Amino acid sequence: MYKELAQYYDLIYHWKDYKVESSTIKDLIKKYKKSGGENLLDVGCGTGMHLKYFKHDFSCTGIDINKEMVEVAKSKVADVNFEQGDMIDFNLKTEFDVILCLFSSIGYVKSYDNLEKTIMNFASHLKKGGVLIVEPWFTKSTYWVGVPGMTTYNGEDVKIARLNTTKIEGDLSVMEMHYLIAERNEDIKHFVDIHELGLFEIDKTLEYMEKANFKSEFLKDGLMKERGLFIGVKL
Ligand SMILES: C[S@@+](CC[C@H](N)C(=O)[O-])C[C@H]1O[C@@H](n2cnc3c(N)ncnc32)[C@H](O)[C@@H]1O
Repeated sequence: MYKELAQYYDLIYHWKDYKVESSTIKDLIKKYKKSGGENLLDVGCGTGMHLKYFKHDFSCTGIDINKEMVEVAKSKVADVNFEQGDMIDFNLKTEFDVILCLFSSIGYVKSYDNLEKTIMNFASHLKKGGVLIVEPWFTKSTYWVGVPGMTTYNGEDVKIARLNTTKIEGDLSVMEMHYLIAERNEDIKHFVDIHELGLFEIDKTLEYMEKANFKSEFLKDGLMKERGLFIGVKL
């Protein structure tokens, strides 16, 4: 997953307004953060597009499981420390004032067991009074099962079509994503990524956050429609 996509990721998500999202997150940090420092970690940072807007106000680190995504992030966003690691069990041996996990990256841990471990891991990387902001994936009741999806990018030198199907298997949403990519002077590429994300219930996530020593809440209106945001302040 995301390996072949990494170099095209920012084109597929060209519609996403990272600047506006980052400004909303900055306001939330201002409101909730009680610790004194400005060290920020973005988990599942992808190509580092949010960090581009945080790096002037915070000392930033990004971590992602995918080597190719980390390489793209490094080449695009200067003055940020990028690491490769799994959110379930990474150990950066340092504590942050802010941990972000945005655009539903958390869903990729797939199971409730892993979700609990991941939230515990976030807690152990946060200072007292530090803030955790997690943008979740959908729940079983908000997921659009059965509905096909299509996203396109129509540039002069690159054209991309992504079609996907959606289904539910137990607590997992499964999306089979087919990419067709045409580039100037190149053969057309076709590859398939199967994305499996856990459909975690809001109450369960809040329960794990409380267990990990966060004062936590769920904001219904977050960055993207119907996803919301979890905010936790480490006690
Ligand atoms: C939808 S992308 C979001 C990327 C970025 N946060 C953004 O807003 O564009 C999900 C990211 O999560 C990463 N990811 C998936 N599973 C992960 C894991 N277990 N640990 C760390 N990163 C993971 C993927 O490699 C991918 O870059």
